[in-house]
Amino acid sequence: MKILITGSSGFIGYHLANLLSKKNKVLGIDNHNNYYSKSIKKKRLFLLKRNKNFIFKKIDLKNKNKLEIIFKNFKPKVVYHCAGQPGVLYSFKNPKSYEINNTIVTKIICSLSKKYNINKFLFASSSSVYGDQKRFPISETSKLNPKNPYAKTKLRSEKIIKNSFYNSDVTFVIFRFFTVYGPFGRPDMFIHKFLNSIKNKKIIKLYNNGLNYRDFTYIDDVVKILQKSLHKKIDRKILNICRSKPIITIDLVKLILKIYKAKNSKLKKTKFVKGEMLKTHGSNKKLKKFFGNIVFTDLEKGLKKTIKNYKLFNI
Ligand SMILES: NC(=O)c1ccc[n+]([C@@H]2O[C@H](COP(=O)([O-])OP(=O)(O)OC[C@H]3O[C@@H](n4cnc5c(N)ncnc54)[C@H](O)[C@@H]3O)[C@@H](O)[C@H]2O)c1
Repeated sequence: MKILITGSSGFIGYHLANLLSKKNKVLGIDNHNNYYSKSIKKKRLFLLKRNKNFIFKKIDLKNKNKLEIIFKNFKPKVVYHCAGQPGVLYSFKNPKSYEINNTIVTKIICSLSKKYNINKFLFASSSSVYGDQKRFPISETSKLNPKNPYAKTKLRSEKIIKNSFYNSDVTFVIFRFFTVYGPFGRPDMFIHKFLNSIKNKKIIKLYNNGLNYRDFTYIDDVVKILQKSLHKKIDRKILNICRSKPIITIDLVKLILKIYKAKNSKLKKTKFVKGEMLKTHGSNKKLKKFFGNIVFTDLEKGLKKTIKNYKLFNI
C-alpha cells in the first residue's frame, strides 16, 4: 500500500511513518519549519531514513504545484494529514501561521486527494475544538467551543474535509487527539518542557497553579489506532483518541520527578492563561466501538519509556 504522511518529521508523523513503513511504501513530507528546534526534526528524519520503504520530500504543503507532482508520481492510496501548526499560546501571537498551515494547507491537500482518487484520508485534529466543557467525559457529540485561534483552524479544517469529500468516493476519518506524549515528544508541550527544565535547572511555569487536568495519551497507542484504520471500514467518522484518565498537573509533576529521580526542580505556579483549557477528559467509547477494546498504556509506564528515551537521546 502506498501511503503519504504529511508532517513526517513532526512528533506524531514520525512515529506513524516509523510504524507504517515496516509493511508499506511511505512517502513523508515536511518543511522542517522553525516552530521548535529543527535539530529534533532532523534527528527524527535521520532515524526514519534507515527504513528502505521510507522516502522523504522536503516541501512546503502550501506549494500546490510541488505537491501535485508528488500525487502524480507516487500515486498514494492513503493520506495521513499530520502536518500543521500546533500550539495554543503561540496561536494568539501568530494566528496567520495557523490560517496558512492548518486551514489553507488542508484545503490544498484535500483537493489533490480528490483529484488523484485516493481511497482514504485521515486527519490529525485536536481535542481543543471542544474548548471548556461542563460535562465529562467529552464525547464526539459534545458542543464545540474552540477558544483559541489554533482550535478554530482545526475546526475549520474538519469542515473543509467534510465538504471536500462530500459526494465523493474518498473515505475519511477525523481523529481528535488528546495531549499525545512519548519518546521524541514536542519540546513546546508540558512533559518535554518540564524534562528540559529539570536538566537545565531552569524554572518551569505551572499555569493555573498546576490545577489543569490533561488526558495524556501515549504515542504508541495513537499510532497503532491510526495503523488499524488502514484496513478498517470506517467512513465519515469523527473519533476521539484518548485514554480517558486525566491527571492534574501537580500530580503529573510529582510522578515525573519520581521517575526522573530528580533531586529538585524549579517550579513557579502562575495564574490562569487565556486560551488554555482547564480540563481535557475525553470519552473513548466510540473509538472502542470501532476498534474493539483497545488497551491504553498506563501513564507511569509511558512516562518511564519517555524519560528513558530522553536521557538516552537528549530529546
Ligand atoms: N501532539 C499532540 O498532543 C496533538 C494533540 C492534538 C492534535 N495534534 C495535531 O496533530 C498534528 C501533529 O502534531 P505533532 O505533535 O506531531 O506536531 P509537530 O509540530 O511535531 O509536527 C507537525 C509537523 O508538520 C510540519 N509542517 C507544518 N506546516 C507545514 C507545511 N506547510 N508544509 C510541510 N510541513 C509542515 C512541521 O515542520 C512539523 O514537523 C498537528 O496537526 C497537531 O495540531 C497534536
